[in-house]
Amino acid sequence: MEMKNLKKGLVVVAGLALLTIGLAGCSNSSDNSVKNIKDKGTLVMGTSADYAPFEFPIVKNGKKTVTGYDIFIAQQIAKDMGVKLKITNTEFPSLITDLKNKKVDIVLAGMVSTDERKKQVSFSDSYYKVENVLLVNKADENKYNSISDLKGLQVGAQQTTTQEQIAKKQIKNATTVTEANANSLTTELTQGKLAGVVLENEIADNYVKQYPEKYAIAKNVKLSTPESQQHINIAVRKDDKKLLKQVNKSVKELKSNGKMDTFLAKAQNLQAKYGK
Ligand code: ARG
Repeated sequence: MEMKNLKKGLVVVAGLALLTIGLAGCSNSSDNSVKNIKDKGTLVMGTSADYAPFEFPIVKNGKKTVTGYDIFIAQQIAKDMGVKLKITNTEFPSLITDLKNKKVDIVLAGMVSTDERKKQVSFSDSYYKVENVLLVNKADENKYNSISDLKGLQVGAQQTTTQEQIAKKQIKNATTVTEANANSLTTELTQGKLAGVVLENEIADNYVKQYPEKYAIAKNVKLSTPESQQHINIAVRKDDKKLLKQVNKSVKELKSNGKMDTFLAKAQNLQAKYGK
């Protein structure tokens, strides 16, 4: 009888020990994401600075830098971690690969959390919501009464973006022309090589605000934006769960203290003043 209880007790103790080891393994495992960043003293952000007001180059006091809404958010995340921010500027199509290959720690690039991307990386809580529109030359403002009026024409979209998918799926009777850099698209639009460029509303509005004599939004060309392509988020590697938690903490704080809105307004002002 006593022997049996002793055995039972031992089994319970052994079980608890295993459970403890298991739990410790779960919480620490190999996720040193936050520790690594703190150790190197720098948070490396990947972006594609062709997307005002989210990220764009400016020349201020003779110095060229990258600034914008996403940069201000990343600066705050770095500050909350007690480290410096380093910006790595590259083309949008390379960003997810750069993140997976550990060239950068996080990606902020006006990137929406599509289902395909979610298979490859993790996304933070969303900090902005978008729709899609067609940007055209000012002279063509009232030329297109519907999507079908674009028949046989060329429509631009940035490579690997949700705009490329929307252009191909929704403007079927036009040819989609893609470029790795979003700025090339508006250049081609101005040159008359493209009839329009599919862009998110915030970006298109920005072009119109900056160059009202050059661009307009084709109001009657109604594109729809699927729910999975509406939310802009910050991307981190799937394993970096602690970093994701840290990022979400900063995002939550920025939303509740109103700084998220301030950052966007600040980015728009800087673009109007120093952007080219
Ligand atoms: N929101 C779109 C997407 O995630 C386009 C983002 C383009 N960003 C940029 N920095 N050029 O596919």
